[in-house]
Amino acid sequence: MSQSSHPHDLLSSADEAAEVIRRAAGDRSPQVAVVLGSGLNGLVERFGDRKVIPYAQIPHFPVTTVQGHAGNVVFGSVDGAEALLLQGRFHFYEGHDLRAVTFPMRVLQRLGVKTVILTAATGGVRADLRPGNIVCLSDHLNLIGANPLRGPADPRLGERFPDMTEVYSKRLRNMAKEEAKRLGVHLVSAVYACLPGPSYETPAEIRMLRALGADVVGMSTVPEAIVARHGGMEVLGLALVTNAAAGVLPTPIRHEDVLEAGEKATPMIGKLIRRVVLRLAGVTPGNEGLSGEYPTYRPD
Ligand code: HPA
Repeated sequence: MSQSSHPHDLLSSADEAAEVIRRAAGDRSPQVAVVLGSGLNGLVERFGDRKVIPYAQIPHFPVTTVQGHAGNVVFGSVDGAEALLLQGRFHFYEGHDLRAVTFPMRVLQRLGVKTVILTAATGGVRADLRPGNIVCLSDHLNLIGANPLRGPADPRLGERFPDMTEVYSKRLRNMAKEEAKRLGVHLVSAVYACLPGPSYETPAEIRMLRALGADVVGMSTVPEAIVARHGGMEVLGLALVTNAAAGVLPTPIRHEDVLEAGEKATPMIGKLIRRVVLRLAGVTPGNEGLSGEYPTYRPD
């Protein structure tokens, strides 16, 4: 039996989840979704007119197990522009397979979402990156050791061998950089290396990643970016550097510090995302609070 004729294949499961979300949403159908990374859950506060749907009420959604990750789909709007926020994500290290990790992307695809903004906490591999810096993903290294598209191919969801030349849309990267500049933040491009975790890296692994061309390292984002691209969505990746990667400084890396750095940066990332969401809705964002104090990127 082919997988597509199975009653609980990926497409049917995604459609069932999408249907529950659609019913709860009334007539709202946002074109943009934002996935909130570690410590960035507070970003939902920037959005008004919120409608919260707990993951537990959505069929086939996995359950989040990580401190710092709530589990809700949230409809919200900023200055009239609608967005769908995913508060809490699923990670490979929790024991989920990559199909579960990326299931929300399939639901977004079936909901008709066109653009996905992925946010993440990362370690700065490149020596000149500082905690608090926000980087724009230009490319990635999938070092998880698996691919979320492995398994039977369903042509209704995408191609068997999708092109990954431009996972992170150049158009969106340019837009994010322009808007960051208006906020007084220099947004540098970064290559994200995705490792399975959950242990942080060793200094030797960080040296390896540097030699491979990585600028930041994390344990998420890449599987979702691959599936979002496969599903025809345009992807923007914004990563917060929450800590220097292992071995850069003599201090250990602690999850609490990662969360705290995320919380500190939430207002700035929120401003940036608001501006991008408005641009995508065809609205030119007005000027708001240029940041004098935010630790913008400064090359050494
Ligand atoms: N390594 C991997 N993932 C991370 C890190 C890190 O240093 N910081 C935040 N997420």
